[in-house]
Amino acid sequence: MRKVAKEEANLLIEKASELLTIRGGTKSPILGKRMRDLGIIRDGAIAIRKGRVVAVGKTDMIREKFESSNIIDASKKVVMPGFVDPHTHLVFAGSREEEFEMRVEGAAYMEILQKGGGILKTVKETRKAGREELLEDCRKTLSVMLEHGTTTVEAKSGYGLTTEDELKCLEVMKLANTEHPIEIVPTFLGAHAVPSEYKNNTDGYVNLVADEMIPEVTTRKLAEFCDVFCERGVFNIKHSRTILSQGKRYGLAAKLHADEMTRFGGAELAAEMQAISASHLLFSSDASLQVMADQGVVAVLLPGASFTLMTQMYANAKRMIELGVPVALGTDYNPSCWGENQQMTIALACHQMRMTPAEAITAATINAAHAINRSHEIGSLELGKRADILVLNVPNHRFLGYRFSVNLAAKVIKDGNLVVNKGVRSKVEP
Ligand code: NIG
Ligand code: FE
Repeated sequence: MRKVAKEEANLLIEKASELLTIRGGTKSPILGKRMRDLGIIRDGAIAIRKGRVVAVGKTDMIREKFESSNIIDASKKVVMPGFVDPHTHLVFAGSREEEFEMRVEGAAYMEILQKGGGILKTVKETRKAGREELLEDCRKTLSVMLEHGTTTVEAKSGYGLTTEDELKCLEVMKLANTEHPIEIVPTFLGAHAVPSEYKNNTDGYVNLVADEMIPEVTTRKLAEFCDVFCERGVFNIKHSRTILSQGKRYGLAAKLHADEMTRFGGAELAAEMQAISASHLLFSSDASLQVMADQGVVAVLLPGASFTLMTQMYANAKRMIELGVPVALGTDYNPSCWGENQQMTIALACHQMRMTPAEAITAATINAAHAINRSHEIGSLELGKRADILVLNVPNHRFLGYRFSVNLAAKVIKDGNLVVNKGVRSKVEP
């Protein structure tokens, strides 16, 4: 019998005890019970060429067709898509450890903000910081994220709150995106807080965001989404609607911070605006979640934010899944919730929201990709998708959530390149 010549792959990963394909969610998010089906291939392998997935299957089958001088043995390990983090406040200066201690002692997040602390403290420090300083911090944060398996991250502005400082932060993200392996998907969040110079003049600040910032940001192509902190004492429904509508006019899809501290109508507004996602949603009613489900708005749940707010309240993920709301998970990395690691988000989601490890993994990969309009490229290991891959040093996927507090990522591959090896950034970079 004639031997068929094998195709050359740039990289082969083989013998995975579990290869999580998380297939079938490219066109629309994975809902309900299907979130528990990770499309697992035991003794799985994957072939990569030019940064893309060219074959996925059992090791025997893949090795019959492909050869490569570059082979990773993933025996006794889980291979899965890189994490997608759909909600971070990536660029800021300074820190807020004193407030952390005050919160430990019982101070409320909103009280601290109303006294000019919280977000407003970070705004003061970020306004003072130069681009180079912000970029240096941003690089370090991105490397920590990458080392823990995140290969794509959404990043919000929102600590500048002047046109100039918002542009500065978005430009830092753009620069970081060109030089770091992680892909950064930028969101404009000029409506993160009312800056002190507009105290008692929220309308005036809303006009500045809508009439000056949004046109500037979009002319310079610095963002894909427009977000608002829609909350009692910050931006009300009317303000939020004004800003998000203007964003849409300028081509920015809507996102919201909704119903985080109070039931405020944010989830309904997300549905009305046909937002791509709404985050937090601790206080949303069943009826509002249902309209979100009907409109396909992705619920981005942030158990790290609940953990650090210390109110013992978490979003009702199980109810959302039951209602058919697309559920995603993010870190909410920010100076009051300083956690870069999506593995920790998964652990919190399992322990505090009773999501199963499989549900949480679906939420932190393909559904998170939907929340940032990237599901056609990332979030699952399927033919043609970008080879953003995580090799975990555990025998099965349930260890995500179960074993927490150490980094389980052994290798991280971004666009087909090995960028983290044995938990350390490798020299081979794209
Ligand atoms: O998603 N809630 C508003 N924004 C962030 C917190 C930002 C901050 O405290 O600096 C959040 O929780
Ligand atoms: Fe946030």
